This record gives sequence, C-alpha cells and structure tokens, in this order.
Amino acid sequence: MASLQPIFATPLFSTRIAMPDWDPSLYTWKQNQHNSISHEQNVLDMPELSRLRERIQFQLRVFWRDFMCASCDAELKLQQSWVNITENGAHHHRHWHTNSMYSGVVFWCDHSARITFINPRYPQLDFDTHTSHESNSAIWRVEPKLGLMLIFPSWLEHQVETNRSGGERISLSFNTWPEGQLTTDPTRYLDCSSRTEPQKLTDWLDRKPK
Ligand SMILES: [Fe+2]
Repeated sequence: MASLQPIFATPLFSTRIAMPDWDPSLYTWKQNQHNSISHEQNVLDMPELSRLRERIQFQLRVFWRDFMCASCDAELKLQQSWVNITENGAHHHRHWHTNSMYSGVVFWCDHSARITFINPRYPQLDFDTHTSHESNSAIWRVEPKLGLMLIFPSWLEHQVETNRSGGERISLSFNTWPEGQLTTDPTRYLDCSSRTEPQKLTDWLDRKPK
C-alpha cells in the first residue's frame, strides 16, 4: 500500500493553558516595525505572571519529554519573554528568533489575525492543490485563541497577518535554551550521522588540516 511520510518534520506544538486577566498597566510599550512590544523583555519574571510562567514551563517540559522524546539530563528553560500588541490595521513583520532553541507564543485573545509560519525549503514547483498538508504547503497558518500556546523551532520564520478585526491582538512571546547535559556520550557533539556510521571525535581530528 502506498504511503507518504513527512520525514524530518518541523515540530509545531500546540496546547491550551489558563490565562490571567489582561492587565496593560503592567507594561510600557515601544514601537516595533509595524506593531508594539513591551519594553520589558522578561515579563514572565513578574510576580503577577508567576502562575502563567509555571504553566508555560510545564508545557515546555511536555513538549521536550513527551513529544521530542528527550531523555537527557537537560530542560528547556525560559529566557526572554515579552508582550506584543498588534492594533487594528497593523501587522507583525516576518522574522525569526535568534539566540534561542525553541520559541513560543501564548494568546491573550481570540483573534482573526493568524500567525503564519513560512516553509524554509524553497518550493521548486508552485502548483495548484486540492488539499493542503505538511508536505505540499509553503505557509502554515494558525488562528489565535485565548490561552492557545504554540512552541516551534526558533529558526522557523513567522509573521502576523494584518489585523482587520477592529480589536487589538495581544500575545506573549518567549524564547528558550536547554540547560543541563544534552548527552552523556562525549563523541556525539560532532556526530550528525549516528544512525549509520558514527563519526567519532577522534575521526574528525584525524581529518583536520594540519
Ligand atoms: Fe516571533
């Protein structure tokens, strides 16, 4: 029987979490390219958001352990966190998150302005399709819902469509980095072919130009 496997897939984790009441008085704002972001770049350190931080950190662990199947002695730890407001008529420019392993967003509202992820692999053929799926899509859109939380690789480019709803679109973004020991095997740091011929550190050193 024929089948199609989306090998080497890009992970997009989604779940729903409880959100605290939206309190704009906690933040000060600066202009981003086409929307506003909080001056505060570690909002999840605020005592008012401590419960939210716990919920996000818990879901990061679910993603890491249950879905990415991490068995190592390392956890994804929250780094920067900030709030975004996209007013009616504004959008959020196309971007990615540097100096981060996985990034995430949680939404403070139901909203029609979708987050759009962009396939990093250039589509050689742009053909009409009757159905969109993981293997034939150039973009992937997700509509914000109150408490919807997404986690994705930080290199994955994304943007927000122009807000035409008449209401503010509010979200909280965050970055992460693994802390701890990723592997107990000291030869794996340079090994990207462990399922075939393991490339040992000593092999690599032997091939280095003298
Ligand atoms: Fe982003």
